[in-house]
Amino acid sequence: MKATHRVIDIPQANGRLDALVLTERPVPRPGAQDVLVEVHAAGVNRADVMQRYGTYPMPPTATTIPGLEVAGIVAACGAEVTRWRVGDRVCALVFDGGYAEYCIAPAVQCLPVPSQLSLVEAAALPEVVLTVWISIIEQAQLLPGETLLVHGGASGVGSMAIQIASAFGSPVIATAGSPERCEACLGFGAERAINYRTEDFQAAVRAHTGGQGVDVILDMVGASYVARNLALLKIAGRLCYVAFPEGHQAMVDLREVTMRRLKITGVNLRHRPIPEKGRLIEAVEKRVWPLLERGRVKPVVGATFPFTEAARAHEMLEASRVIGKAILLMR
Ligand SMILES: NC(=O)c1ccc[n+]([C@@H]2O[C@H](COP(=O)([O-])OP(=O)(O)OC[C@H]3O[C@@H](n4cnc5c(N)ncnc54)[C@H](OP(=O)(O)O)[C@@H]3O)[C@@H](O)[C@H]2O)c1
Repeated sequence: MKATHRVIDIPQANGRLDALVLTERPVPRPGAQDVLVEVHAAGVNRADVMQRYGTYPMPPTATTIPGLEVAGIVAACGAEVTRWRVGDRVCALVFDGGYAEYCIAPAVQCLPVPSQLSLVEAAALPEVVLTVWISIIEQAQLLPGETLLVHGGASGVGSMAIQIASAFGSPVIATAGSPERCEACLGFGAERAINYRTEDFQAAVRAHTGGQGVDVILDMVGASYVARNLALLKIAGRLCYVAFPEGHQAMVDLREVTMRRLKITGVNLRHRPIPEKGRLIEAVEKRVWPLLERGRVKPVVGATFPFTEAARAHEMLEASRVIGKAILLMR
């Protein structure tokens, strides 16, 4: 194995695209419970974009190399790793360092690549599958038959939320910012897609549900949607936040929350300890991986970029021009 490898680093967060710097680093060594992944593809996330702006709440121990998910081949295993062997195809949720030719992943944060999927497709899975799992299943406790409203339905997380909720038996309504993105939401399984730029989403959801509203809402917009979201929830409805680009502070009418027994919740994946992430990985391997194996749920690779063009990937993601996931090709 080589002693050094190429990485994309963000040594100085300044918001500009040239903050992403191609450089060379020593190949990291796996700890006893880690694997070293020869990375073939890495997912690009909004968190990486926010890191470039210096607005992401970085865990204190994270390096400046972005990248929260990879897919590739196991190149080395730590002394205590029993599940994986050198040569295995894995995809993994990683703490940092995904924009690189080699990356360390805790063994418990790796998943087998579903047999019919490529490594590029597999790199589109860890962040979105786990985020959907912790938000709509664990936090909001969506039940089969309950209706889900997904804002940002054409995003990475949104495209997976529509597919997983539909596969679990929930009707899904989605919002998105263009006709093309709405069409994509219907393709993922939404029964109604609302272009929020041309339609009032609140009125459209009411009309579609015969005035009843929805049981669960997955939101990645934030403050400007809070009142309209709460108004759309049925009795005992749940509103779950994964992001809030349009503001994190909002007025809430507590009468509505109490009278209709509503729950407002939110999730964060990255700031969880490794054993907790391992538990989540086990859960999605049991419940979501069979759906991927059967092709009932599919990774959505909206755009791929050579990894030296990470800046272009950031630019596209920031402009909401990617449907599903943006993936960097490392080899
Ligand atoms: N909490 C967690 O642990 C966690 C984990 C993963 C991701 N996230 C967050 O969840 C969100 C979705 O992740 P992703 O990877 O699916 O992101 P993404 O593909 O970049 O999509 C975000 C989408 O949100 C929609 N949007 C609506 N209002 C927006 C606004 N004011 N600014 C930007 N986007 C807006 C856009 O779609 P339209 O143009 O169609 O509206 C955009 O495509 C991101 O904000 C991400 O940071 C959180």
